[in-house]
Amino acid sequence: MATILIHADAKAAENATAKRLLDKIATKPDATLGLATGGTMEQVYAILIEKARELNLSFAGLKSFNLDEYIGLSADHPQSYRTYMNKLLFDHVDIKPENTHLPRGDAADPAEEARRYEAMITEQGGIDLQLLGIGINGHIGFNEPSSSLGSRTRIKKLAISTMEANRRFFKPDEAVPTHALTMGIATIMQARKVILLATGAAKADAIAAALEGPVSTACPASVLQFHPDVTVIIDEDAASKLKLRDFYESIHPGGEEVYFVK
Ligand code: PGA
Repeated sequence: MATILIHADAKAAENATAKRLLDKIATKPDATLGLATGGTMEQVYAILIEKARELNLSFAGLKSFNLDEYIGLSADHPQSYRTYMNKLLFDHVDIKPENTHLPRGDAADPAEEARRYEAMITEQGGIDLQLLGIGINGHIGFNEPSSSLGSRTRIKKLAISTMEANRRFFKPDEAVPTHALTMGIATIMQARKVILLATGAAKADAIAAALEGPVSTACPASVLQFHPDVTVIIDEDAASKLKLRDFYESIHPGGEEVYFVK
C-alpha cells in the first residue's frame, strides 16, 4: 500500500512535501528529480527555496525532468511550464539551467520531441523522485482518463475539465492550449520513488478513486497502486471521501511517518 499521510491543512501538506524533496537533495546531491507544475506546487517550491537557503543546500549536482509542456507554447511564453519552473524554482536556486529539462512545446515535430524526451530520461539513468499532482479527473501529468497504463512520453489531447481548470492561468481573450507533451504513465511508473500531493476538497473524488477505486484508465492515478514506493500527501479536505481514512490516520497520526523500529 502506498504510504498515505493526511495533514491538517494545505500548508502542513506542502511543508511535508518540500521536506521530502530537501531530504532527497541532502542525501543524494546528484539526484534526478521529476517535477510537476500546477497551482498545488507553487507553495512547495516557495518553501523549498526558503529552506534550501537556510540549510545552505546546493542544487548544483541535480538534474530535473518535468512531467509535461503545452504544445504550441515556446519556452518563453508567459504560460509555458518552462516559464513557470524558471520563475517559481530554477531562477532562485543554483541548479544548472542545462540540467533542467522540459519537453519543447514549440518543437517542429512534437511526436519526435516526445521520443527524444523519453530517451533522454532513460539515457540519464531514470528518475529518483517523481513529484506529482492530480487532476480533478484523476490525471497525472497530462495523462487524461483513457490513457494507456503502458504509455510513454507522447502527445495528448487535454480533457475539457483540464482546459477549464487551466483557464485561470491565461488571459480572458487568450486560447487555452488543447494538446500537451506528457510523460506517459509507464514513464512515471518507472520513477524509483513517487510523491503525490493533493490539497483541497476539489481533489477529494480523484483521491478516493486513485487510492481506493479499481486500477483503471478511468482514473489514471489509480495505477500508482502498483508502484512499490509511493507516498501520498494530502490535507483533510482532499482526504474527505476516503472510506478507510480512519485506518490511514491510525497508521500515520497527523500525517507523521511512524517508525516502529528505530
Ligand atoms: P493543480 O493541477 O495543482 O493546478 O490543481 C494539478 C494537476 O492537474 O496535476
